[in-house]
Amino acid sequence: MPEPERLLTLNQVSKNFGGVQAVKNLSFDVNSNEIVGLIGPNGSGKSTSVNLISGAVPTSSGDIVWRNQNVNKLPISRRVPLGLARTFQTTSLLAEFSVLEQVFTACHTSYSVSPWHSVLRMKSARVQDAEQRAKAQELVEFVGLGDVINDLTSTISSAQQRLLMIATAMASDPKLILLDEPAAGMVAKERKDLAEVIMRIRKRGLAVLVIEHHMGLIMEVCDRIVVLNFGEKIAEGKPLDIQRNSAVIEAYLGGVH
Ligand SMILES: Nc1ncnc2c1ncn2[C@@H]1O[C@H](COP(=O)(O)OP(=O)(O)OP(=O)(O)O)[C@@H](O)[C@H]1O
Ligand SMILES: [Mg+2]
Repeated sequence: MPEPERLLTLNQVSKNFGGVQAVKNLSFDVNSNEIVGLIGPNGSGKSTSVNLISGAVPTSSGDIVWRNQNVNKLPISRRVPLGLARTFQTTSLLAEFSVLEQVFTACHTSYSVSPWHSVLRMKSARVQDAEQRAKAQELVEFVGLGDVINDLTSTISSAQQRLLMIATAMASDPKLILLDEPAAGMVAKERKDLAEVIMRIRKRGLAVLVIEHHMGLIMEVCDRIVVLNFGEKIAEGKPLDIQRNSAVIEAYLGGVH
């Protein structure tokens, strides 16, 4: 095994929305080939953290470092080519497209062909078209959607739509994929399939940062878990240690009253 590479470092990152401090002095790392969970009660700053990492919203303070490069000032469009990709908590698919077309479009936009090449149908573009189509097909099959590859994205189940969002995010050839609640609305069998996809993503050489409320899934797939409460990191460690951590238990039980 090659030495793991430090891909992502959050160094004392904070985010304020007006008077709300959504994330406070958050520091953690993600290494290559690692599955890291980001958990915490509702409103604890998980989605905001992913938005900060992906570049969807700017930090208020602190540094986000990607492979030794400070990316604080880079917009989302310039972080994706560096190898950072994400899915969203709500599904965002192209309704009139088939499953294959959805991923094909994402492969295409991540490719270096100018629009003119596509318009003129130059030979190079045609070759690249075929390559991108094969790549899209492979990704659709990779997430287990081979049976519905020609179905419209709007007609497949919500669990399948979530898997499709993962395939779409993988089209940009990321080194780290950020998943925001990929198991939302899934039943047990669907969660099991998702867990397998997440572990296969790692086998492909990617790292995963996953936000999830479903503890069974988190405990099964994660190497390491970071726990937030009111925007602050209250614990970090291996799944078994996190399950026994009194601050974590308190944060979750505290929310039940
Ligand atoms: N764009 C925004 N403007 C103002 N406040 C926001 C914004 N986005 C998030 N917040 C606030 O920041 C805090 C953290 O929200 P965030 O969505 O990051 O939580 P979360 O951990 O993802 O919650 P959930 O589990 O419900 O998805 C909340 O108090 C939320 O209301
Ligand atoms: Mg959220």
